[in-house]
Amino acid sequence: MACRIWPHMRRRLFVRFSHKRDLHRPSLSSFLRTYRPSLSSSNQAPSLFLCSNPSSCRASTARVYADVNLLRPKEYCDYENFELQWGNQDNYEVLRELGRGRYSDVFEGLNIVDQQSCTIKILKPIKKRKVKREIKVLQNLLGGTNITQLTDIVRDPVSRIPSFIFEYVENTDPKDLYPKLSDFDIRYYIFQLLRALDFSHSQGIMHRDLKPSNVMIDHEQRKLRLIDWGLAEFYYPNKEYNIRVASRYFKGPELLLGLQQYDYSLDMWSLGCMLAGMIFQMEPFFHGSDNTDQLLQIVQVLGTSKLHDYLSKYQIELEEDLIPSLAGQKKRSWSEFQTSANEHLFNPLVEDLIDGLLRYDHQERLTASEAMMHPYFHPITKIQTLTLPVEGEMMELSCTT
Ligand SMILES: Nc1ncnc2c1ncn2[C@@H]1O[C@H](COP(=O)(O)OP(=O)(O)OP(=O)(O)O)[C@@H](O)[C@H]1O
Ligand SMILES: [Mg+2]
Repeated sequence: MACRIWPHMRRRLFVRFSHKRDLHRPSLSSFLRTYRPSLSSSNQAPSLFLCSNPSSCRASTARVYADVNLLRPKEYCDYENFELQWGNQDNYEVLRELGRGRYSDVFEGLNIVDQQSCTIKILKPIKKRKVKREIKVLQNLLGGTNITQLTDIVRDPVSRIPSFIFEYVENTDPKDLYPKLSDFDIRYYIFQLLRALDFSHSQGIMHRDLKPSNVMIDHEQRKLRLIDWGLAEFYYPNKEYNIRVASRYFKGPELLLGLQQYDYSLDMWSLGCMLAGMIFQMEPFFHGSDNTDQLLQIVQVLGTSKLHDYLSKYQIELEEDLIPSLAGQKKRSWSEFQTSANEHLFNPLVEDLIDGLLRYDHQERLTASEAMMHPYFHPITKIQTLTLPVEGEMMELSCTT
């Protein structure tokens, strides 16, 4: 048995910051005195049903974890009626901007109590209900594999702007990272993402906004974290959900067609889009200019015939004027997307996995745990990964048998 220590296992040298305040490193409180939220950059099209009568669709229930929330105490999902315990905002300083989202501005920060880097997500003005839902979801998922850890919530006493504090991840922009990933790397990171999804689904929670910019990867440490649980929701069988979730390129056909009884399998569609994008080096894989065009992009790959099977199974009636534009499209084979630039990533196993995820019928898609057992991941699953906490650091020891 060969045991090897990855280079990133070596103790990382942490830059120690002085306790003294530095004018260039404002406290979160002083930063918020002059802070103005960035304007939202949204690719959300106005609500639009592509089916003529969304409320008449046939009922649908998740194939797995359908009852988990029904079996838990009410407090588990009751995010509207729980007391928030705010921490001390003065424990944090702002270091630099990391990203601007639709609902927040995000900064790297410093926790001056333990001198650890952290991520500060300053929320834009959004409904209190949505803030509480995100907190409840994050608290329920605490300790979950590869899920971003919420370490504190604070609120500015003057403006009452809430901020979430998370662990910091040294993320590389997906546009720079994905083209460099090897076949093994992609298997490894998709498997890590599946572990996060399976954990969240097993806890009764759909993410509903899976996309590359919500997946933080520290490639040097081979660490992946699924972030941004702002659109996540608790799953109940036969509940009708809002279809205005997920980012356009990652929206499942159920959202585009107005089928409101969707479930965890929505995340599996988005994962399929991410995987296809990584393998074929097309980011995004389905590049629609609006929701109608997004559906057309999907139909141009999966074909019209299977779309009609899906529509009739769930009794979805398409808007009359859409029918001609979606007609006559043949299903393309996945190998048609293979090029000399991506052939090192494409193989029959990944083709089969993509095919199992990118299905119109959400009930036919692989679940996260089924996908984890797919032979595409055998090179990953034969490596036993032990996560050992060493003096507060998580270090990975990989033993190949
Ligand atoms: N823990 C983290 N470590 C490093 N960068 C992060 C972290 N959390 C967030 N970011 C950066 O901030 C961006 C916005 O964060 P997040 O997705 O949580 O906000 P949002 O407002 O909900 O975004 P969206 O527009 O996707 O809805 C991320 O895409 C990422 O670039
Ligand atoms: Mg985001």
